[in-house]
Amino acid sequence: MSRNAPTTVPDELAVSRTSAVSLTGVSKSFPLSRGREVTALSELDLSVGEGEFVAVVGPSGCGKSTVLRMVAGLDEPTTGSVAVEGRRPRELAKSHRLGVAFQEHALLPWSSVRNNVALPYRLAGRPVDSARVDELVELVGLKGFENARPRQLSGGMRQRVAIARALVLGPDVLLLDEPFGALDAVTRRRMNRELARIWAEQRITTILVTHDVDEALFLADRVVVMTGRPGRVRHVHDVTFARPREAEITRTPEFHDAVDLLTGLLDAESVPA
Ligand SMILES: Nc1ncnc2c1ncn2[C@@H]1O[C@H](COP(=O)(O)OP(=O)(O)O)[C@@H](O)[C@H]1O
Ligand SMILES: [Mg+2]
Repeated sequence: MSRNAPTTVPDELAVSRTSAVSLTGVSKSFPLSRGREVTALSELDLSVGEGEFVAVVGPSGCGKSTVLRMVAGLDEPTTGSVAVEGRRPRELAKSHRLGVAFQEHALLPWSSVRNNVALPYRLAGRPVDSARVDELVELVGLKGFENARPRQLSGGMRQRVAIARALVLGPDVLLLDEPFGALDAVTRRRMNRELARIWAEQRITTILVTHDVDEALFLADRVVVMTGRPGRVRHVHDVTFARPREAEITRTPEFHDAVDLLTGLLDAESVPA
């Protein structure tokens, strides 16, 4: 820190122009009963460049979802600052420039695929752009299923609806919290390839939280490994595999070495529950 650094820096000034998302000295505590509290995150620094894909891995309970919720403007840090494009996340969320696919953001069971994908227009109070909705349905490979209800779809197809919905308003930043966590391994790998293809077309700044190191290495430009609670950045791994990436890269010695490295770091951070 420079000698003249002020003790509190306004969010706007704490951000470099090239980072789309930045968390600076972020700590987050949650109150527990009888005046106790749990420190979920401690002094976390993370910045994500414009158009970059960053994957975040870490032991269960280390604060990954909390990080995404703060970037999404759904929660505030206890100390430190979070900025998206130099602004407060809540402002961007209000202008619907953040695309979010979290596990708890379930699809509307009684609505068709088309209406589920169109939901953000309704939430934003904007007229639905049907052509755009159809384009997104097609982008995620669900053409022909526009009128299906979620229960008529497989788990992988439902996740694709959630991703189409997150993308439909053309967000500046895409936030994905374990979007494929509930899928079997084969479907998951297929979804990874599809997400890689979609991302290659749109190049949206993306933060993906995952517990799957292979998924992180296949998709991301950088993989951030967090420590156990309270979460901080333990290690940042640059992923240098050329794009577009095909499934074959996951069978190379370089890929296996990276998986071993990150798995080792994760195991060292995980404590028995
Ligand atoms: N709303 C909340 N109230 C109290 N504790 C919370 C809340 N949200 C998260 N926590 C706690 O913060 C820690 C980090 O949670 P979370 O971000 O969900 O972890 P992860 O996504 O890495 O599994 C956990 O100990 C969790 O119990
Ligand atoms: Mg989580």
